[in-house]
Amino acid sequence: MAQKSESEAHPDPETEGPTPVAPESLSAEAAAAELERLAGIINTANDAYHQDDAPVMSDASFDALKARNAAIEARFPDLKRADSPSEQVGAAPAEGFGKVRHAVRMLSLANAFDAEDITDFDGRIRRYLNLSEDAALAYTSEPKIDGLSLSLRYESGRLVQAATRGDGSEGENVTANARTIADIPHHISDAPEVLEVRGEVYMSHADFEALNARQAERGGKTFANPRNAAAGSLRQLDAEITRARPLCFFAYAWGEVSEPLADTQWGAIERLAEMGFRTNPLTRRCDGPQALIGHYAEIEQQRATLDYDIDGVVYKVDDLALQGRLGFRSTTPRWAIAHKFPAELAWTRLDAIDIQVGRTGALSPVARLSPVTVGGVVVSNATLHNEDYIAGLDNNGAPIREGRDIRIGDWVQVYRAGDVIPKIKDVDLARRPEDSAAYSFPETCPECGSDAIREPGDSVRRCSGGMACPAQAIEKLKHFVGRTAFDIDGLGAKQIEMFFTAGEITSPAEIFTLEARNVDLKLQERDGFGETSVAKLFAAINERRTIPLERFLFALGIRHVGQTTARTLAATYLTLDALLAALKAAVADPEGEAYAELEGIDGIGPTVVRELLEFMAEAHNRTVLDDLLAQLREVEPFDAPAQDSPVAGKTVVFTGTLEAMTRDEAKARAESLGARVSGSVSKKTDILVAGPGAGSKAKKAAELGITTLTEQEWLELIGGG
Ligand code: IVH
Repeated sequence: MAQKSESEAHPDPETEGPTPVAPESLSAEAAAAELERLAGIINTANDAYHQDDAPVMSDASFDALKARNAAIEARFPDLKRADSPSEQVGAAPAEGFGKVRHAVRMLSLANAFDAEDITDFDGRIRRYLNLSEDAALAYTSEPKIDGLSLSLRYESGRLVQAATRGDGSEGENVTANARTIADIPHHISDAPEVLEVRGEVYMSHADFEALNARQAERGGKTFANPRNAAAGSLRQLDAEITRARPLCFFAYAWGEVSEPLADTQWGAIERLAEMGFRTNPLTRRCDGPQALIGHYAEIEQQRATLDYDIDGVVYKVDDLALQGRLGFRSTTPRWAIAHKFPAELAWTRLDAIDIQVGRTGALSPVARLSPVTVGGVVVSNATLHNEDYIAGLDNNGAPIREGRDIRIGDWVQVYRAGDVIPKIKDVDLARRPEDSAAYSFPETCPECGSDAIREPGDSVRRCSGGMACPAQAIEKLKHFVGRTAFDIDGLGAKQIEMFFTAGEITSPAEIFTLEARNVDLKLQERDGFGETSVAKLFAAINERRTIPLERFLFALGIRHVGQTTARTLAATYLTLDALLAALKAAVADPEGEAYAELEGIDGIGPTVVRELLEFMAEAHNRTVLDDLLAQLREVEPFDAPAQDSPVAGKTVVFTGTLEAMTRDEAKARAESLGARVSGSVSKKTDILVAGPGAGSKAKKAAELGITTLTEQEWLELIGGG
């Protein structure tokens, strides 16, 4: 079972008692009592993690308890209990919820931290839309509720489905649970035929305190904060448990709608309120960044008196037509931003610095801290970024923390910015132990002993061991099975570690040969597995023998090829065969057409091209790739969105001055219609859109006989100005 990261977990009282008696020294009577005790602790921890979203111990402690349980069972097989934890892979209720594919993706918000970020946000929007500084541009401003987002689907006014956000594309079906929330109407009148209402589920402070008091009274687990309590309560397999937990819901957005709700954000929220949804009373309409910042200050002042947690203020462009023009980046809208409240800070001692080796070989220093509560969450790890950061320097060699370095034994100030890994803000030199020494960053990989090299201009030191380094190999595999890559249910980081250590999965292809090898491996007989879970695991693996191209590319873990780049590559080459052929051709001839085309793709810089070609040039990587492909049924060709648009699948180049919209907007619009936008003209270009002042690109297009359109003709083609 994968317990939550330690930074999110509570301290671990269960493992802090006196040293337990070794299994081999236990009498049968003591063993039976100990098995009963362990079943209680482990099963409760399992539920706390999986069902309540409130981990009560670290992974290591959990594993240690399970190992002890297994050792005692091995010695006294007859005493094995019916509820033995060794028979359970983890009571993952997540498996119990059906999955729901969101008709419109549920996105997150970009963050802003100060007034300058807000004026920048306003400036970016004006530039994108080509609006002058004094043109009117209204926003809405509303509290950012610290809960969890939920999408409610109504058809003919009836609530038919409720889904959590999940990974944004696919969430969990929590319809039965959502129906128990009083703020969520089961029927609405005067609604569009299809309406997805989105908002935040949260628990009020009063209800949170009362729930924790009830839990404590019954000897149940208490929650660290109202957000965890809300998440744990919504994600209950038994909806009756959800009903007994008082949850609230504020509506603030929408997904699929069969007809527009209004012309403005403000109007749409008013409409949702008329339909019977609770909307936040602190929402205002503001006429520019200064008014937004003023409203932020007002909300910040009221924060302590609100009966629910908020972690910032959200600003949204009010005009929905402008929202439509601004559109989205890969995971966040351009038309909204979250202005976060300053992070909470706490002082604690830095006990140790550990070095983790990532999948690209980067040596990442991690601070191990004496546990301290920051904003309701116990923190025991923080990132230290790289060796310069520890030494008190930024990426350009300029001092940070006025040049103060960080040493083991120091008192450090930690903070959490949003949901991300805790960071260190400062160090208290007055409390520095006299015998402390400056930290000396390792120059060899702590995992495999290879040289750890720092390239000039790079702030990161990397292990040069490549796939021979077990840490890199294991991290690559973890990435491969991750949620945004192959996403294999039942094969997470924990299982990869176990299979890798045993030498049973050392390459992606070996995941797919696991079932065939099970005649010898006999996974069903192992601790933590059973017939059912093994069958489920193989089914999940087999399901992924067909995989979309963009996921496949991302899963390979090539440096600098993140989700967006993988998608761009998939959208450009459409099939794996075409991409591989292009890469091979580019490796063979760096002066040739294939190379030029690769470099010409909008959004693919020279760094990505270099990494891709280095990856392909490496014989070992090609073997890994071929072995993997031999195991897969199909790498599905890229499925371009909006196939019915006249420009779907076409490669478009913009040149010259555009008048109706900015270059950024033109590009985003073309992409949303399924076109590929390239920066250079080649034989593969389908359309050149040439504004006034077009030069060499127009000439080349004419030579190649490529369709050339004026901006007006282009707009007519894609249907509208
Ligand atoms: S708007 C397309 N408004 O914050 C953007 N989100 O960090 C839709 N949240 O996932 C989100 N209060 O769970 C929006 N007033 C508010 C919000 C809000 C809380 C959450 C939401 C979202 C997360 C992004």
